[in-house]
Amino acid sequence: MVDIHTHILPEMDDGASSLEESLEMCAAAAESGVKTIVATPHFYDVTAADAFLEKREARLALLKSGLMERGLSLEIRLGAEVAMRPELYTRRDELKRLSLGGTRYLLAEMPFSPIPMEDVFDYIELIFDQDLIPVIAHPERYAYFQENYDIPNLLLEKGAVLQVTAQSLLGAFGPQPMKLAQAMLRADAIDCLASDAHEAYGRRGADLLAIRELLFAQGIPESLLSRMMEETPGQIMADADISDRQIGYILPPKRFGR
Ligand SMILES: [Fe+2]
Repeated sequence: MVDIHTHILPEMDDGASSLEESLEMCAAAAESGVKTIVATPHFYDVTAADAFLEKREARLALLKSGLMERGLSLEIRLGAEVAMRPELYTRRDELKRLSLGGTRYLLAEMPFSPIPMEDVFDYIELIFDQDLIPVIAHPERYAYFQENYDIPNLLLEKGAVLQVTAQSLLGAFGPQPMKLAQAMLRADAIDCLASDAHEAYGRRGADLLAIRELLFAQGIPESLLSRMMEETPGQIMADADISDRQIGYILPPKRFGR
């Protein structure tokens, strides 16, 4: 599997709090069959991009030496989870340096507090303007997306890629994210499932196989799981063009009595 959204770098953000924890997360991922993992630390302050990138390199070097010592084999690539903030408009040229493994894809986190729908589309235009393709981090978790399915539908239509956090489908983030994630799944509108791991095991863990098995037990076909957890994320990290993929249309769940 290819996990395009994780917080595995030691002492980089609110993910792994030590090298020990990083190594545990990497071991959990590797044992669960993850071959490539993308470290996507939170990126908030566009005026401090140089410092962020330097710190990210240093943390990667530390992690790599730990992996060597342990004899763990796992391909680690670098990216960022870029918080969409107005300041990005003044430093838009920085975005390219933050893409997933140097590809054309950028992992974009929308604000959790509601913003007007137009602002969401302005942010993705800002990304497209830099010849990058936005990969929207966990669309199912934003309340304003949950209340208005036009937002994720229009994002797909405009060419954005949607990355759902695998645990959302199992209800780990509550009923509302689960509802939207399941509606997206029914519509075949999930491009990628990723762990968004902040710890080795548990609700925010890196063990994708455990989640995959639970999803399979719930009736999600193997072919679909493999597309969302291997093929499409693999194409993204290979910098392939995926714009000709089938795009689903997300419908709200049917209400009874109508
Ligand atoms: Fe994240």
